[in-house]
Parts: sequence; structure tokens; C-alpha cells
Amino acid sequence: MPDIPVITVDGPSGTGKGTICSYLVDWLGWNFLDSGALYRLLALAAKRKGIQNDDEAALVDLAENLNVEFKVAGVGALVDVILNNEPATEEIRTEECGNAASVIAPIAAVRQALLSRQRAFHKEPGLVADGRDMGTVVFPDARLKIFLTASAEERAKRRYKQLKEKGISANLRDLSAAIEARDERDSTRSASPLKPAEDAIVVDTSLLDIDAVVARITELVRKKIPGLPEK
Ligand code: C5P
Repeated sequence: MPDIPVITVDGPSGTGKGTICSYLVDWLGWNFLDSGALYRLLALAAKRKGIQNDDEAALVDLAENLNVEFKVAGVGALVDVILNNEPATEEIRTEECGNAASVIAPIAAVRQALLSRQRAFHKEPGLVADGRDMGTVVFPDARLKIFLTASAEERAKRRYKQLKEKGISANLRDLSAAIEARDERDSTRSASPLKPAEDAIVVDTSLLDIDAVVARITELVRKKIPGLPEK
């Protein structure tokens, strides 16, 4: 088995993982796994089929047979997501879908059912993997493990701004509460809880703008993976 490099980018929502992964994929020309999209797709598929959050057997069956396609739409991590031959790109990005994903994500058998699907993204010339347990469970041998954090307050503000820019109305206090509830569910579950891998490098982005985060990540990647192309 050739040693195909993996960079994992884990952390709670709103820490800038998506932006950093998009930057890395664009720079390195590697494959991209948005593992959160899989959990969101599963939540959406369950909703469409009327499957309840606690119907473990039905959820596992759905996860094993999820008919999903990721279509790379140009350079970077912009990916079109197709569920059962219908576009789902916009629908899976809602707050509601993210929260629903975090309700079914604690089920160990569901996580197990999605494991091989996630590992199938590990192909030449390399992989950038975005999620919660990329460095701890899915790719424990990754060449570089990054864990992004930021205060819940700062993350709620960022999300609020993003939604406003998209013309979606939002309330900062409700967003904060939902983010805190999602963090709590993601970090306290027994199956693959959200936490940095022992060998992960933790980058707190609360007080950094995106250029500073990009500079820090570039430095880490260059140090761990020599011989990369210029940007
Ligand atoms: O990253 P994103 O916000 O798209 O993830 C949605 C939810 O899916 C997370 O809050 C988490 O509960 C779940 N998830 C997970 N493991 C991953 C990625 C996402 O449990 N690797």
C-alpha cells in the first residue's frame, strides 16, 4: 500500500475548517472528504423517509445504502452533493440539518456504517479530511492532524455573519444556544467524541483572522510534508 498522505482538520463548527480545507485542496490538488456532509445527508435522507432519530436499525440500514455522489464543482472544496439522484447541496447546509446530524451521529453503529465510505476517499495524490474524528478514528495515521478551536461566542458571531450574507434571517442568541447544544452532544457522546487526537496540533482561531490562520496552517503543512508545490 503506497503511503498516500492525509491531512485531517477536526474541530467544532464555526472554527473555519471549511475555509482551511478549501484552501488546502486548492493548493495541494488533493482529494477532499467533507465527513460532516455524510452525517448531514444521512439526517436528510432519514427525514425524507420519515425514519425516527432513535430507530437505530433503520438508520444503520440507510447509512449502509446511502445513494450519494460528491461532484467537485471546479477548483477547491466546492462540492455538489447528490442524494438519490437529486441535488442536496443547499438543503444539507441548513442549521436544522446540522443539528439533526448531530442527533444521529452519536449512534456507534451508524458511525461504523459510514467508516469504509469515508476511508474510500483516501486516494492518490493525497487527502484533506474535514470532520470531528478524522484524526482520532478515521485516519489515525494521518501525516498532519490539525484541530481548530474558537470560543463558542466567536463561532456564533461568525455563523450569524455567514447567514446574514446569504440573506437568511438569524438570531444571535438562538444560534449561540444551538451551537452550545451541538458542542455538548458532539463532545460528550461515547462513540468518537469530539476531541483532539493526542498528536494533533491545536490552533485557536478566536483571535486570528483568516489570513493568519492560513499562514499558520501553511507553515505546519510545509514542516510535516516536504517537497510540496508552491502556492
Ligand atoms: O461539520 P458539520 O457541521 O457539517 O457536521 C454536522 C454534524 O455531524 C456535527 O455536529 C457532528 O455531530 C456530526 N459529525 C460527526 N463526525 C464527523 C463529522 C460530523 O459526528 N466526522
